[in-house]
Amino acid sequence: MRERLTRSRVWRSIFRHGWPDNPLDRSLVMTTNLFLHLHPVKVNRRSLRPTYSFGLGVICAILFTELVLTGILLMFYYVPTVERAYSYIITLQTGVPFGQLLRNLHRWGGHLMLLAAILHMARVFYTGAYKPPREFNWVVGVFLLLLTLAASFTGYLLPWDQLAFWAITVGTSVAGYAPGIGGQARSFLLGGPEVGQEALTRFYALHVMLIPLGIGLLTSLHIWRVRKDGGLAANEVENTE
Ligand code: HEM
Repeated sequence: MRERLTRSRVWRSIFRHGWPDNPLDRSLVMTTNLFLHLHPVKVNRRSLRPTYSFGLGVICAILFTELVLTGILLMFYYVPTVERAYSYIITLQTGVPFGQLLRNLHRWGGHLMLLAAILHMARVFYTGAYKPPREFNWVVGVFLLLLTLAASFTGYLLPWDQLAFWAITVGTSVAGYAPGIGGQARSFLLGGPEVGQEALTRFYALHVMLIPLGIGLLTSLHIWRVRKDGGLAANEVENTE
């Protein structure tokens, strides 16, 4: 009896609601659970249909987490110097257990996150979820897409192979033609007249620190706003029908 009492006290110290078989407990389950509290207490059936959002925003968030984790592991082996970067990548692929898998997980994760962000944006547009009150979150989303593109671009230089070198040479030259700020943008990225050690150092700092920090902060704001705007737009569509 005493044991059951203690167990129930331990249980209740963590779960502050009863079995969800009445409206009050159902609400408490939603508001006291870290994951469920991201949703409104009541949602429309329509917004729960997997084909409404295809979970593309969540997929972006999961891929970002995967990229941070594999990126941290890659940093154990990578050194951003023009003399050693390429040979470290080769050593990672050929001499480190699961090194090739780790590199591919990061590379493919990056491609997939960009694809998922573009598809997510298309879904939001198609369902009209960019309209008020969600217009601010749409703008946050645009910055998230730009940061995702920037992460892909800066990561591309890091292997320091021929493909990387020439892709960034072309990419930064194109940036140089942007009206007004082109020249400054190019010298900010390269830190010199051409792609060299300064550019590699800058791309590395942007890729492993500034851009992921920006994506992390904006994603938190983005998901918080989804909740504050009343969950998915589908909730309102059905309410007004
Ligand atoms: C790149 C990282 C991004 C992440 C991690 C992300 C995450 C999310 C998540 C988790 C949701 C909840 C619904 C869902 O899963 O579809 C959501 C909704 C939303 N997202 Fe994103 N998103 C990203 C990019 C974008 C972009 C590029 C746009 C548009 C320019 C955008 C605009 C919106 C809007 C307006 C909503 C509300 C949708 C509705 O109410 O139906 N997001 N996002």
